[in-house]
Amino acid sequence: VETGLLDTFGRRAVDLRVSLTDRCNLRCTYCMPEEGMQWLAKDTLLTDEEIVRLVRIAVGDLGVREVRFTGGEPLLRPGLVGIVAACAALDPRPELSLTTNGIGLARTASALAGAGLDRVNVSLDTLDPGTFRTLSRRDRLADVLAGIEAAHEAGLRPVKLNAVLMRGVNDHEAADLLAWSLERGYELRFIEQMPLDAQHGWVRENMITAAEILASLGTRFTLTPEPDAARGAAPAERWLVDGGPARVGVIASVTRPFCRACDRTRLTADGQVRNCLFATEETDLRAALRAGGTDADVAELWRKAMWGKKAAAGTDAPTGIDAPAFHQPDRPMSAIGG
Ligand code: GTP
Ligand code: 5AD
Ligand code: SF4
Repeated sequence: VETGLLDTFGRRAVDLRVSLTDRCNLRCTYCMPEEGMQWLAKDTLLTDEEIVRLVRIAVGDLGVREVRFTGGEPLLRPGLVGIVAACAALDPRPELSLTTNGIGLARTASALAGAGLDRVNVSLDTLDPGTFRTLSRRDRLADVLAGIEAAHEAGLRPVKLNAVLMRGVNDHEAADLLAWSLERGYELRFIEQMPLDAQHGWVRENMITAAEILASLGTRFTLTPEPDAARGAAPAERWLVDGGPARVGVIASVTRPFCRACDRTRLTADGQVRNCLFATEETDLRAALRAGGTDADVAELWRKAMWGKKAAAGTDAPTGIDAPAFHQPDRPMSAIGG
């Protein structure tokens, strides 16, 4: 019998992204307003035990093989190391990763590695302290760079770096970011900005496209596409840099959508399953847990949630975000986890 998280398009979710908090210590302009957000109420947040139980169900009953912890900023979750350790003890053991802004990672990287975390992705949009301050509204570039280095030292490899380019802010830094990453052995990926900001201020024309990013990198590097077979369900398309083995990735959610191969399911910090980053409906697993639901009850709700997954970016159109039917979800990026 089929027990996995299938949808009507034949996709199977084996990659679970768990948001551990909607809070953040930065205020990136493409994500949050200066004043922050109305944070989720404490009693709606899953406890550490509830999170581990849901991950156990996902891994044990639903075929999930990879678990990524996100936020907001997941390092702000006090129980993170314990959650990682408990997930690493599951059978079968899932691959465990973390997506973070890097602040605090210098202090926690070795404990996380010790608990069983396999690798980290860190946001790095600029190497210029002033630009970092403009972009994130905080003066923390040094902490981020220390965090990246500590992760690498702790063996959380490969360290992947994420850069969102914004017109007139940091779009001139693409080649510098790549040269810097290559020198240190990090895998850099450029991300097209998506309409997920809390302010609903995303404008299609302002977005730096994959084509622009590649043109900009092409002035300093020779890029050759990596064979399609190497990609799998990864959002990042990759290019060999100057013949390889070094690579650079581009996550072109808008201009080159990859929804057809999507293998993701998501859990928010308040216990809602989202079958897509852009889903407009959620399934309340927290209520099921707190009403005394069994593992089988929860698994069945999760399967039903995924069966309702739409073709692309929450729409029936293959073009997804660029389709007229696209609708930005009410929940912002910081409360979904990217
Ligand atoms: P790796 O397996 O480490 O390559 O993970 P990843 O690149 O999928 O994860 P990460 O958390 O680093 O996210 C990088 C960017 O990809 C972020 O902007 C995410 O919002 C975006 N992303 C992740 N999953 C999806 C997805 O299912 N759809 C879309 N459109 N974007 C996604
Ligand atoms: N579009 C694309 N990527 C975004 N991120 C945050 N907001 C957006 C957005 N609107 C990135 C962060 C982080 C990753 C999880 O998602 O920079 O690296
Ligand atoms: Fe924080 Fe990430 Fe949003 Fe920046 S993009 S404010 S680091 S949650």
